[in-house]
Amino acid sequence: MKVTVVGAGNVGATCADVLAYREIANEVVLVDIKEGFAEGKALDIWQKSPINLYDTRTTGVTNDYSKTANSDVVVITSGLPRKPGMTRDDLISTNAGIVKSVTENIVKYSPEAIIIVVSNPLDVMTYCAHITSKMPRTKVMGMAGILDTARYRAFLAEELNVSPKDIQAVLMGGHGDTMVPLPRYTTVGGIPVTEMIAEDKLNAIVERTKNGGGELVKLMGTSAWYAPGSAAAQMVEAIVRDQKRVFPVCIKLEGEYGITGTYLGVPVVLGKNGVEKVIELQLNEDEMALLKASEKAVREVMDVLDNMPVNA
Ligand code: LMR
Repeated sequence: MKVTVVGAGNVGATCADVLAYREIANEVVLVDIKEGFAEGKALDIWQKSPINLYDTRTTGVTNDYSKTANSDVVVITSGLPRKPGMTRDDLISTNAGIVKSVTENIVKYSPEAIIIVVSNPLDVMTYCAHITSKMPRTKVMGMAGILDTARYRAFLAEELNVSPKDIQAVLMGGHGDTMVPLPRYTTVGGIPVTEMIAEDKLNAIVERTKNGGGELVKLMGTSAWYAPGSAAAQMVEAIVRDQKRVFPVCIKLEGEYGITGTYLGVPVVLGKNGVEKVIELQLNEDEMALLKASEKAVREVMDVLDNMPVNA
């Protein structure tokens, strides 16, 4: 299996590293526009192979997409990260042009590849990649739900003093502060979370999750990378190993949850064909209202993209 990761910054390099040391692909190609940057990071990852014992061949290229030809999966991490005080949506004017041109190059050399978008604003960059690629919606998706759910699970594990492995949860909606963590679908070793934690503590964790990316931007002066890069690699693994994992993934909705045409995080089955099934939960009235509010927020940014010169 050949996987390309576009963007050799923190997120892309972390993703490539996880793909290599966990031997998720035989071949990983890292691409960046900055001369020598991807080559250097890929060489560093390759030189780690005798220490961490893996044989995934990792190479880097400067903007030469011919080297990415016939990739099975492509992860797009290109674009600017946030600085303190910025929302993800503030990145649209820079990142839309980048994601569009990266997608054109990817499709030219790997017309069959499944595309995973990580660039922000996530839901709208997934929209951008999808319309540019002209591929079926099942093959162009965004990574956010695994990351947001991981933050929610990690906060709960810390509060309850249990292993994060035993927290199962689902989170829906856009990758912004309107995201919808779902306590009703959260369990601790099979026990409903509401039986383990006081309501005010759970509400505080839900709020912290919604601002999880921003909390890190404030601490580090730039966006996170370990969890985002690992989350993207987990999606690649589900696809290349045909694992049929159930993850929240950003995809264009076509009538599910009564929503058509908006790109939102929903639980799906992920396997060798990409999104193999969208799972429709029986949301209650409150949960549905939150999802609709999230849809509205994403729609507004999709409209911004529609009116940008990049789409003229
Ligand atoms: C994240 O949630 O960590 C990413 O979307 C990056 C960011 O700026 O928050």
